[in-house]
Amino acid sequence: MCGIVGYIGKRKASEILINGLKRLEYRGYDSSGVALYENDKINILKQQGKVNQLDRMIPHDMVKSNIGIAHTRWATHGFPNYENAHPHTDNSKEIAIVHNGIIENYSAIKKKLLQDGYTFESDTDTEVLAVFIGALYKKTKNLEQAVRLALNEVDGTYGIAVVSSYEPDKIIAARLGSPMILGIGEDEYILASDAAAIIAHTKQVIYLEDKEMVVVRGDGYSTKTIDNLATTGDIKEIDFDIEQIEKSGYEHFMLKEIFEQPDSIRNSLRGRLIIDKGNVRLGGLNSVRDKLLRAKRIILTACGTSWHAALTAEYLIEQLAHIPVEVEYASEFRYRNPIIGPDDIVFALSQSGETLDTLAAIKEAQLKGATTLGIVNVVGSTIARETEAGIYLHAGPEIGVASTKAYTSQLTVMALIALYLGRQRYLSQLDGKRIGSEMMALPDKITSILAQTDKIKEIADQYYQVTNCLYLGRGVNFPLALEGALKLKEISYIHAEGYPAAEMKHGPIALIDENMPIIFIATQDEIYDKVLSNIEEVRTRRGKVIAIANEGDTRIASLANHVIYIPNTLPMLNPILAVVPLQLLSYYIAIKLGRDVDQPRNLAKSVTVE
Ligand code: G6P
Repeated sequence: MCGIVGYIGKRKASEILINGLKRLEYRGYDSSGVALYENDKINILKQQGKVNQLDRMIPHDMVKSNIGIAHTRWATHGFPNYENAHPHTDNSKEIAIVHNGIIENYSAIKKKLLQDGYTFESDTDTEVLAVFIGALYKKTKNLEQAVRLALNEVDGTYGIAVVSSYEPDKIIAARLGSPMILGIGEDEYILASDAAAIIAHTKQVIYLEDKEMVVVRGDGYSTKTIDNLATTGDIKEIDFDIEQIEKSGYEHFMLKEIFEQPDSIRNSLRGRLIIDKGNVRLGGLNSVRDKLLRAKRIILTACGTSWHAALTAEYLIEQLAHIPVEVEYASEFRYRNPIIGPDDIVFALSQSGETLDTLAAIKEAQLKGATTLGIVNVVGSTIARETEAGIYLHAGPEIGVASTKAYTSQLTVMALIALYLGRQRYLSQLDGKRIGSEMMALPDKITSILAQTDKIKEIADQYYQVTNCLYLGRGVNFPLALEGALKLKEISYIHAEGYPAAEMKHGPIALIDENMPIIFIATQDEIYDKVLSNIEEVRTRRGKVIAIANEGDTRIASLANHVIYIPNTLPMLNPILAVVPLQLLSYYIAIKLGRDVDQPRNLAKSVTVE
């Protein structure tokens, strides 16, 4: 969603800000803007539309400024138009701010400011904050103090950056529930809501804590709380390289990330499996090991693709560790007074570590005394910090909005956790070794699936004009059917549904005719024969069957119109392999339709609103 970049140093700010915004485009946005301090005033350029358009609006040759802030906005309060785009200013137009998050009590503050004679040009909560800071500056004549006083009055969440011609030697930034990172370069500083906008300049960063602010000058910075208490501002290193956020010759990030899966899974597994003992080493869970062993119940909460990974994990944990598992949409969990207590373990699964609903769900669980653990990809993200302990995916940055490699890494890490719990309870060493060896073999098996890309592309070429699609699977392949349908919907805008195959006859069967492709995940497991019967039912109604089946399956070819064969593995690990053809199928259908696969309409990579 929204993105922030700020720059103060010796170089031309306009170019650094625009390049920074381009690095944040993947998050999803609908308008963009920049504020630069030059000729004793704050100059603002903003618009509804892409960063490239904003770039063309800026006369880079003439602009010399070396201090500024910039923003990409994903509309929450008010339409995505010029007025509502950031930066916003106070009434004097001398203070400009960019803001991520939501100021919940903005109406009350606005009412008071209106009574005092202040005016507003937009519908945004952000402008209220800007005008509020301006009003407080009038009284204090001190920008830092004005920002601090304002932030002490607001409810909600914010990542903000502020510049002003009153005190043009600084940028002030702060966070509460919405990330803000200070990049420390040589004689320069880059502020951003996402490390992707900083990595081109420096790897040394400070992740601001909640209610922490930083005052950054060209020659130094100081961190403090919004109550004016000094903080340590620990410097950390960004955990990825710039090549990882570039397309590296691929046409799209999504395709690159699909092809990265052998490596991302290797990275998720690295150092965690002790094959000869059939054990798992998860350092991130050491501090909660006893609580995990005592757990009577595990709750998995997440949104979107991460929720699908959680559904699969339910099968894995129950099968290997015999602990009852419940899977909850984070957005539902937080609002329905869930019955949880100190004996419960709540895992939050999140690629970004910033999804607001997931964050709120763990806060609700914490309030009720449960132990909360994070399964997160982005290092240092809010969920990683707010949970008691957890495991990083180490999948590397995921830029494509539709999650691919993070999903397979989530499944991999959840399989590790299931094995870890299982080995401490009922699972034998022999079983542990067998499962561990199969997990180690997954990356090479994915490589062999990727070698079939041309064949999958041909299938996509035949079906890209359909308007509906059904994905069916049973057991552990059912959540995969949901994920396959979601992938297609997200990037091609074709309506798709995932169902447990046997449920088809209770409704979706009414949709089946000769125009309807049905994708069956029909891999070898104890219910394979039942899935074949479901395929027969579809064929009888002239539906077109695309099957994902295991190599060596001699029965399926006569039933399906197309078969994509994948290597054999343990049934419980099958989704990690079988999702790959589904990702490729969606990708090539979307390409054929000319969709913007990396930034599909209306979607955001990291959803930081309710
Ligand atoms: C958005 C993204 C999805 C993602 C979901 C949850 O909707 O577009 O790809 O699955 O958020 O995100 P998270 O970062 O918590 O996994």
